[in-house]
Order: sequence, then C-alpha cells, then structure tokens
Amino acid sequence: MTETQYQDRIAIADPYIGTEEKTAVEQVLDSGSLASGEEVERFESEFASFSHTSHGIATSNGTTALHAALHAAGIGPGDRVVTTPFTFIATANAIRFTGAEPVFADIDPQSYNIDPQSVESTIQAHDGEIDALLVVHLYGHPADMDALSDIAARYDIPVIEDAAQAHGATHRGKPVGSLGDVGCFSFYPTKNMTTGEGGMVVTDNDEIAARTRQFIDHGRSDRYEHERLGHNFRMTNVAAAIGRSQLQRLPLFVHERRQNAMRLYDGLQDCSFSLPREAPRTTHAYHQFTIRSERRDELKNHLDEFGIDTGVYYPIPVHEQPAYAEHSVSAPAAERASDEVLSIPVHPQLSDDELNAVITALEYFDSYL
Ligand SMILES: Cc1ncc(COP(=O)(O)O)c(C=O)c1O
Repeated sequence: MTETQYQDRIAIADPYIGTEEKTAVEQVLDSGSLASGEEVERFESEFASFSHTSHGIATSNGTTALHAALHAAGIGPGDRVVTTPFTFIATANAIRFTGAEPVFADIDPQSYNIDPQSVESTIQAHDGEIDALLVVHLYGHPADMDALSDIAARYDIPVIEDAAQAHGATHRGKPVGSLGDVGCFSFYPTKNMTTGEGGMVVTDNDEIAARTRQFIDHGRSDRYEHERLGHNFRMTNVAAAIGRSQLQRLPLFVHERRQNAMRLYDGLQDCSFSLPREAPRTTHAYHQFTIRSERRDELKNHLDEFGIDTGVYYPIPVHEQPAYAEHSVSAPAAERASDEVLSIPVHPQLSDDELNAVITALEYFDSYL
C-alpha cells in the first residue's frame, strides 16, 4: 500500500444532506416564516417522540440546551454539579454559565464515561453538598446509568444527560435523554444528525419543560410579558426543517455506524490497540470509534500520511484547560486517556474500500512500525 493509492482523504465526519432536506428548507424559505414557528414545533414533538419523552424544546445549539436544562433543573449560583472532565468543554461551560461550579470526578478508563465510584467519592469529599449530576454519553456510548441513577437517588439530586454525541443510543432499551431528569442534544454537523447548528432539551418533567421553554425565550409568559430573566436560545424554522428530515434518517445513520463499527472490530481484532467496548444492555451509537494506543501521536501521523483523517477527543481534559485553572483536580484516568485516545472514521458515508483502507493502515502500523 502506498500513499498515492488514496487520492481522496477519508474524512472523520461527512454529514449527509439529501434532497428531502433541501426541499424542506426551500419550503421554509418560501413560507417567509424563518424564525421559530410551526416547523420548530413539529420537530420538537417528533424528537420528543423519538426520545420517548413528553416534551422536546429546540434550542440554538447543544451548549444552550445544556445551559437551559441546568437552569430549569434548578441549578444556579452557589450550586455544585458533578461532571466528567473528559468531554467537550461546553459541558462544563454550561454549568458555569448558570453561576454554579463544576466538580470533576474521574472516568472509567474502559468506557471513557464518568466512573460511578469516583462520583460517589467526589460527593463524599464535598460532604454531600452537591446539587446535580451531569452525565455525558461520550462517543455515543451510554454511561453506566444504573449505578449513576442509584447514586443520584441516594443523594436526592437531579441527573442531567449530555447526549450531544449519542442520538440513537439506548440503555436497557430506553433512548438516551430519557434516562435522567432532563436530556440535551446537539445537532452540530459532525453529530449523528444535524440541523447546521441546533440543540434539543427533552424531559418528562412538566415543570422543567416549562422553565426551559421560558428561559430560551426571554423568560416570556405571553406576548411582551416577561416573567423571568431569559435568553434568546431559540432554534429557527430553517434548522428545524433540516432536523425533521435528518431525524427520519437517524435510525439508518445509526445502523450504518454500527455496521461500520462491527467491520472495524472484525478487522482490528488481532491488533494490539484497545478497542471500544459496548457495555451489556446498551446500544452504542458509535458517534466515534475510539481506539487507544501509547503511540497515539505516531499512529495519528501514520494514518494522516495515508490520507486518513482521525480525531483526538479530547487532547486536554477540561480541568487542565487554562479557563479552568481554578478547578484543578486529580483525574488520572482522564489525563491518561487524553494522551492515548484516537478516533478513527466510522461515519455512515464510508465505503467498503475506505473501511478496508483504514483497517489495512492500522494493521500495517501494528505489525511493522
Ligand atoms: C459532549 C458535548 N457536549 C456539548 C456539546 C455542545 O454542543 P454544540 O456544539 O451544539 O453547542 C458538544 C458538541 O459539540 C458535545 O460533544
């Protein structure tokens, strides 16, 4: 195999936009109703139904979904929220934007999700003075919700799910987003489905739903009546039109991600890299297929030379970011993962040849370099 065999690079993400999305957007543009309106309402109810929840509230992105959901769950200044440091920074930023403080627990080194034992010891280290648990289903793999829900119930704190990467994943047959008190999604273009930019809050809790809806719309109670302080975090009809078509495709997108993942497991089973594991009673949505190697940077360069794009999610854990200098903690499993993880292409647009090229390049590195 030589570099020149692959003229086109193999992308780490490749969002699919078809005729349905284009037609739906055109219809919205023709209607003249571009901001939040009926198309958003339809998307909200369809996404809530997909999530097995009674409410869906569309937002401008996943970060604003988290901010609104935390606020609606009663989190505010002086509160503490336990979360993972091994996530996109938006998770922790959303906590800080409510006025609360993130408290970082470590991750399970196998699943990369927050470790229930570390959550328990972190809560104890704060004498139980914790107000919420913000769980991330990283890479599309559901966190250990049995253990985490049990801890949250014992300390009587709400569970907020950051399902930004996990559309289509399930735990005990239930969709992520419906497993805690409130769930949040992102529709950024690299995600399992997109609206360009966009987000969604889902919940069965009427009060949280009402508070979220008010918060994302200037605290509005009626036309030009504003009961509380709020933001403009609304989604547009244009984004919702894309989202409705993408939601129709989501089951197939996830099916294809899972098929590609099975092909990668198969092709890489004899290699020395640590491969992801799907926990029992969960369906992994394979937003990422993340392998692990102590020679991660060399491996990344090798794949790059062969025209294969990869991603490091995330090279710096949140607690080590300069913006979090005052939140310094010890999270050795997260720190080590940051040095070793590498996500390889698994998205639905990959051809068989591309998957084979990824496997061959990895096997070559493992055997000869
Ligand atoms: C885990 C996680 N949380 C939150 C977000 C924020 O979503 P957005 O980029 O739509 O604001 C993202 C996505 O980027 C994410 O991956």
